[in-house]
Amino acid sequence: MAAHITEKILSVHHWNDTLFSFTTTRDRSIRFENGQFVMIGLEVDGRPLMRAYSIASPNYEETLEFFSIKVANGPLTSRLQHLQPGDSLLVSRKPTGTLLLSDLMPGKHLYLFSTGTGLAAFMSVIRDLDVYDHFEKIVLVHGVRYVSELAYHDFITKELPHHEFLGESISQKLIYYPTVTREPYHNQGRLTDLVESGKLFEDIGLPPLDPAVDRAMICGSAAMLKDCRAMLDKRGFRMSKRIGDVADYVIEHAFIEK
Ligand code: A2P
Repeated sequence: MAAHITEKILSVHHWNDTLFSFTTTRDRSIRFENGQFVMIGLEVDGRPLMRAYSIASPNYEETLEFFSIKVANGPLTSRLQHLQPGDSLLVSRKPTGTLLLSDLMPGKHLYLFSTGTGLAAFMSVIRDLDVYDHFEKIVLVHGVRYVSELAYHDFITKELPHHEFLGESISQKLIYYPTVTREPYHNQGRLTDLVESGKLFEDIGLPPLDPAVDRAMICGSAAMLKDCRAMLDKRGFRMSKRIGDVADYVIEHAFIEK
């Protein structure tokens, strides 16, 4: 059996100069939990060049979606950004990862803290069918530097409330909180500062973070992860250490060691 599956690119969307997303065919053998990642890549000089990417599409869709930055001299993204429909993409056979809803204790509010392309994992989680049965509110916080980096903003605010199966639950339960740090916007500042100051909770009308009722998933840069973890730890939240360790919040352990 080949080490990788070869999928075909179906569509490519460029959000701005630095961000793009794309969809691919999905081999029937690829199974995953919403929030997990897979290795994807291209053959370069006769060898597969692979990187970990969160799967942005939910696990019941027939296609796979990925969300990526474009780095001009990045070994993989400098090539990926030129993908066209019909091109091939290598995908590893086994998605994995620790951003799992099943590793969260029962709770009332689920906070999804993301920055940059960390949003990808949560694009899958907010379309999970079970998440709306298990939580009263799902709060998706997306922090970016510039307004143009608020990828999926219109999809989340305009299309998801009309989603075939989830539209009603999403309208009632999903709170989307985009925040921008380096230019004017109606929500401004780092998400860690918005939590510390209490501004986030004033704006969304929920009480400050409480480990008795709140649960969280975190996905962002190494620095963001570190600060978010410290923010939750000092409030008494316990982090899940591995798959199967059910706790108050989860992070992607594979992304932290990179
Ligand atoms: P800032 O503009 O103040 O650096 P990046 O592109 O560097 O990953 O940043 C994406 C977003 O995450 C930016 O809004 C950035 O804010 C914010 N950010 C960067 N580092 C942290 C951190 N340690 N904690 C919280 N937010 C962060």
